[in-house]
Amino acid sequence: MRKKIVAGNWKMNTSLSEGVALACEIDRLVKKNKINHETGIIIAPPMTHTALINMVIDNDRICIAAQNCACKEEGAFTGELSASILKSAGCKAVIIGHSERRAYYSETDEILKKKVNIVLTNKLRPIFCCGEQLEERKKNNHFEIVKNQIVNAIFDLSKNDFSKLIIAYEPVWAIGTGVTATAEQAQEMHAFIRKIVENKYGKIIANNLTILYGGSVKPTNAKEIFAKPDVDGGLIGGAALKADNFYKIIREA
Ligand code: 13P
Repeated sequence: MRKKIVAGNWKMNTSLSEGVALACEIDRLVKKNKINHETGIIIAPPMTHTALINMVIDNDRICIAAQNCACKEEGAFTGELSASILKSAGCKAVIIGHSERRAYYSETDEILKKKVNIVLTNKLRPIFCCGEQLEERKKNNHFEIVKNQIVNAIFDLSKNDFSKLIIAYEPVWAIGTGVTATAEQAQEMHAFIRKIVENKYGKIIANNLTILYGGSVKPTNAKEIFAKPDVDGGLIGGAALKADNFYKIIREA
């Protein structure tokens, strides 16, 4: 059966020393409290912190992800980080298509498709994000929007490649706003995503696909959201910046 995962997206937060301290504290809490080994734990710190954090945590227990990667393999692309560089710094996964990257850095489905392919070629796991804006939900277009994001960026993958993906549903209106989707809204979209994956890739791949919910998940609402049958954990922003909160959320998965 599919894996439960809780992933923390630190975004552009923490200095190097703060980030290392946060990672060490998460590591300590997870070890001390013997969190269920079935639950996968991922943290996505700023890239400058990754190699050092990788040395100080138990990286069999906590995986490091990057928040983005270049859509090119290597070469003269000043300021970019390739999937192979991320891998060499200890990353095992890469968040692709976060709504902030789509909105502020004009990442299109076409670019995201390239990124997903490069990440897979480098034997890293893409955490592919999708989600609608508030206006789109108000017009009842949210299913169509999410379907298009998925079809355009990841439905050309082979079955083998697709089975390595994690999908994160993050409604844009719930990110950093304190307004979370209700557990029912999350379940409804997750079930929809699993259904379209089943139609394309078959029941086994759909049943094994981990689909995370993201958007204002906190220790107080994680339990209810994670209890839904198609919600397999969360992609956590703000609450992942406090070790204690993040640990409490992991416990609910
Ligand atoms: P918040 O948990 O701060 O709403 O952020 C969610 C998110 O964007 C995770 O990628």
